[in-house]
Amino acid sequence: MQDFLKRLPKAELHLHIEGSLEPELMFALAERNGVELPYASVEAARAAYAFEDLQSFLDLYYQGMAVLRTADDFFDLAMDYFQRAHAEGVVHVEISFDPQAHLARGIELSVQMEGLGRARRQAERELGISTALIMSFLRDCPADEAMRVFEQAAPYWETIDAVGLDSAERGHPPSKFTEVFARAKELGIPRVAHAGEEGPAAYVREALDLLDVCRVDHGVRCLEEPALVERLRDERIPLTVCPLSNVRLKVVKHIDDHPLPRLLEAGLVLTLNSDDPAYFGGGVLANYLACEQAFAWGKETFASLARNAIEVAFMDSRRRQALL
Ligand code: HPA
Ligand code: ZN
Repeated sequence: MQDFLKRLPKAELHLHIEGSLEPELMFALAERNGVELPYASVEAARAAYAFEDLQSFLDLYYQGMAVLRTADDFFDLAMDYFQRAHAEGVVHVEISFDPQAHLARGIELSVQMEGLGRARRQAERELGISTALIMSFLRDCPADEAMRVFEQAAPYWETIDAVGLDSAERGHPPSKFTEVFARAKELGIPRVAHAGEEGPAAYVREALDLLDVCRVDHGVRCLEEPALVERLRDERIPLTVCPLSNVRLKVVKHIDDHPLPRLLEAGLVLTLNSDDPAYFGGGVLANYLACEQAFAWGKETFASLARNAIEVAFMDSRRRQALL
């Protein structure tokens, strides 16, 4: 089964590139840029990754990305991830990034885009994986800031496959971002949003009604509203589920309690993803393997989850045909 899951052509649709920063690279970049880290060693960094909730993770996530300063840093970050993903049998990756988190540290958008763009082109050329780029807005920052950053990104709109919404969910409902998502829609840019991770099912409904998203990131708390589950099923709105993330951020107590089997039973379009692989215990393959351990699903179930991801990915139709 392990071999089957590794060889299965997988697409990863929910991945924060800054959350793929392994401690080894964090230390290398800290050295290169003269940035001081709050950890004595790679092992100490890993040992610090014991989270109580989303916010306690976000604190270390924003701290860790302080080592990213130049276009080469963003290139190395993404290339390091693409190589690991490729080795796990991943054939398509959609990387989210948080431009505001870098702008706030004085790192220009052009620097971020150059590094990520260069890594995407090299991964496509040398590893044969296709990629997409999702520009995410920080929901715990003001909505007008998101709008300014989005307008500032005008020179890059062509290379952005979707906009997203992430960071601290509670108290920051999708409704706060209605305007910037409407602007993206006007420009024909697809929309996704984190909703129903720590926030309530009502946030999933808002993401659909007010942001007109085509996919929901996480979305696991939809189960609290049966009518919403029916709607997600009927409208075939995919959820990008991240089981190891949900365990590490205590969205669920234990992988055995994860609602994935109930979501599957409800007939939803589901995909399996890693979210922040450097912080949550592994990449997309580790997430597939954790589900195999916990739920003993058969090959057909995993094949259909992998197929879902390819069907709903942002990729051109020829690539999709080739992968299906
Ligand atoms: N949830 C919300 N925001 C995030 C996450 C997450 O798991 N990772 C990076 N930003
Ligand atoms: Zn996420």
